[in-house]
Amino acid sequence: MEQIPYILAIESSCDDTSAAVLYGNKVLSNEVASQEVHTAYGGVVPELASRAHQQNIVPVVDRALKIANIKPSQLHAIAFTNGPGLMGSLLVGTSFAKSLALALDIPLVPVHHMHAHILAHLIEDAHPKQILFPLICLTVSGGHTQLVLVKGPKSMDILGETIDDAVGEAFDKAAKILGLPYPGGPVIDKLAQTGNPDFMTFGRSLVDGYNFSFSGMKTSFLYNLQKKVKEDPDFVAKHLNDICASYQNALLDVLFKKLELAVKDYGIKHVAIAGGVSANSGLRKRLIQLGTDKNLTIYLPPFEYTMDNAAMIGIAGYYNLLAEETAPLSISASAKIKF
Ligand code: KG4
Ligand code: ZN
Repeated sequence: MEQIPYILAIESSCDDTSAAVLYGNKVLSNEVASQEVHTAYGGVVPELASRAHQQNIVPVVDRALKIANIKPSQLHAIAFTNGPGLMGSLLVGTSFAKSLALALDIPLVPVHHMHAHILAHLIEDAHPKQILFPLICLTVSGGHTQLVLVKGPKSMDILGETIDDAVGEAFDKAAKILGLPYPGGPVIDKLAQTGNPDFMTFGRSLVDGYNFSFSGMKTSFLYNLQKKVKEDPDFVAKHLNDICASYQNALLDVLFKKLELAVKDYGIKHVAIAGGVSANSGLRKRLIQLGTDKNLTIYLPPFEYTMDNAAMIGIAGYYNLLAEETAPLSISASAKIKF
């Protein structure tokens, strides 16, 4: 493609409806409509998520185009998340993207949601310096926990991943047990900042190789807390910050054990984080320290690109478009899709 393309990107894999406009690797707009409807349930309700996407998608796309000051006729391609994610949610974005690509007679570019979280680092202005490969990316979100060896924008291999719950889920479920609102990750992060990370000890599940396991840690959290509350009914209220700091510390210990192992084994000098949990202040602090101790370059994503957003779909779509990876209009969403 000789011309720098204008790309409209759509993300609807979970509970955020998002649309962005990119000019090549430059983000012109990135609009996100988060769904409040799930707060009362302490987690995402798939059926409600797809209905909310259906209501949000047109206004969100409209806003993204207006902010970018781009007319639909100026677009060169439509990028969209075609998996993984919740089927009903994915279908809303996929159907919308297909209809618009058909109406405008422009290419349709499918994007893997987990590639996109990583490629958000390649958005122009995401970092003051150029990203160097190979790097290892720890992708941590509400649905995934992966250690990925990234050799280039189109060359990535999973080294390890969770065998059960994602680390974001481990944050959210603990928050629910503590009676904190959903999503619990940012709330635990904030409370943990003024807590003592050594106040309580929680079990750290360590499975083989570069894989992770978090479901046992959530159970250990519940049982440990129940025991303490039996001894003192006001235990949670009295020690909320310390409980959060100790649990977060246990989760981070597991993440760093595997990350450090992979960095050492592969002789990697560049490390990135991605996904919703990469906004965590404790994780960021610890990673910066690791960079100093082991002489590594650390890439922290700007906060607006950590949670689900369409700008990351746009940048991944841009690289797919350069590789001529477009899709026919018969393409469908895939809840589970090969990395
Ligand atoms: O990437 P994301 O927006 O959606 C998925 O693809 O899952 O990630 C959402 C997850 C939630 O579990 C949320 O609690 C967590 O990211 N999260 C955090 C923080 N901000 C968001 N977890 C820990 N600390 C944070 N500051
Ligand atoms: Zn995500």
